[in-house]
Amino acid sequence: MRILVLGSGAREHAIITALLRENAGHEITAAPGNAGIAADVPVIALDPTNPVVVTEFALDNDIELVVIGPEAPLVAGVADKLRQRGIAVFGPGKAAAALEGSKTFAKRIMDEAGVPTGRAVRAGTLDEAVAAIDEYGAPYVVKADGLAAGKGVLVTSDRDAALAHATYWLGQGSVLVEEFLDGQEVSLFLLSDGHNVLPLSPAQDYKRLSDGDEGPNTGGMGAYSPLPWLPAGFVDEVIDTIALPTVRQLAAEQTPFIGLLYCGLIVTGSGIRVIEFNARFGDPETQVVLPRLVTPLSGLLFAASIGGLGELPRPEFSDEVAVTVVLASEGYPETPVTGRSISGLDTALAIHGVTIAHAATAHSGGRLVATGGRVLSVVATGADFTEARSRAYRALEAIDLEGGHYRTDIAARVAR
Ligand code: AMP
Ligand code: GLY
Repeated sequence: MRILVLGSGAREHAIITALLRENAGHEITAAPGNAGIAADVPVIALDPTNPVVVTEFALDNDIELVVIGPEAPLVAGVADKLRQRGIAVFGPGKAAAALEGSKTFAKRIMDEAGVPTGRAVRAGTLDEAVAAIDEYGAPYVVKADGLAAGKGVLVTSDRDAALAHATYWLGQGSVLVEEFLDGQEVSLFLLSDGHNVLPLSPAQDYKRLSDGDEGPNTGGMGAYSPLPWLPAGFVDEVIDTIALPTVRQLAAEQTPFIGLLYCGLIVTGSGIRVIEFNARFGDPETQVVLPRLVTPLSGLLFAASIGGLGELPRPEFSDEVAVTVVLASEGYPETPVTGRSISGLDTALAIHGVTIAHAATAHSGGRLVATGGRVLSVVATGADFTEARSRAYRALEAIDLEGGHYRTDIAARVAR
């Protein structure tokens, strides 16, 4: 199949790696990609958020499936334009992508569909925000109502910090004040064709910067899959009470969700609650979910894009576990230092079970350099989490990036 993958992160590298692993002779192009992706498939320097440019490229190159990685092209309406021209695309249109882009929209859909989530108030003024903050009490949860690249959320017991966060984001629009949900977090990805869903294997993301879940929220510092501690029937419960009601509600509103429904969940003492939906594969969870996928990914993505998931069985996963640890640049997340050399990847890749998904990398003057905050995801599979962790951390020790840092406790809680 001729496939175009939009995006330039470790998630897109992991998607491409899974497609190549099928050995099905796919002709894959990535736009714009990164240095790691360019080592595997041709890359093209087009703007993935420009619907006209992407659609023209797809038509000119007889692309049979477009896979949209990041949220920005979704919110820009790239999927809508491709669909208008009859091109199969994995990724929702602009209206359904608001499930991620607008937290207010997501809350309304959940209300209409009866999906369990925390209580929340949308505040347009500081007075409204203060009232909600004091109603729910500490710990306080204050979120920007819009795309904020993972940085718009503050969870804190410090009331002044909560008010300062609300004041800052009120300057850019409205904020959402939510009740704090206490429990383990789960990321569950579901493929959706607009009407039917199929689940992938659950994963857990580490959102905080530092060991012990300290420090600021980030885009994600590591992940593991599967989650051995999940109660039996968890995935079925999420399908029945969360995913299908949400997909049906969107279909009923004439904005069908075709793509990856990312359910960000908290397993509280009184049941499963949604903390957020995303309209795309999660990063870094994708880097641990896809290496374990046995069913060919291209068939799943294509079936979702043409309304054909109803005929397919649930995707199968290997018994191996996977761990990923993100290597970040000095200064991430506030002010990442870029331009520094990365070396040692060959030594890392020689370790059994290790792969590397590139995120912010480029070639410059014959060197591989870091171009952003999350530089790469080291991924390791293994028979159990002790083995996978040991492989991943040995690989990280082999990689050299001045000032580079990573968490040392990814998947520690599930390793024996
Ligand atoms: P979000 O961008 O909405 O996923 O929020 C980022 C992170 O903040 C989540 O992964 C949680 O760790 C935390 N968080 C968000 N909302 C809540 C909530 N209502 N209760 C507890 N933690 C939350
Ligand atoms: N891992 C969090 C996200 O992709 O939004």
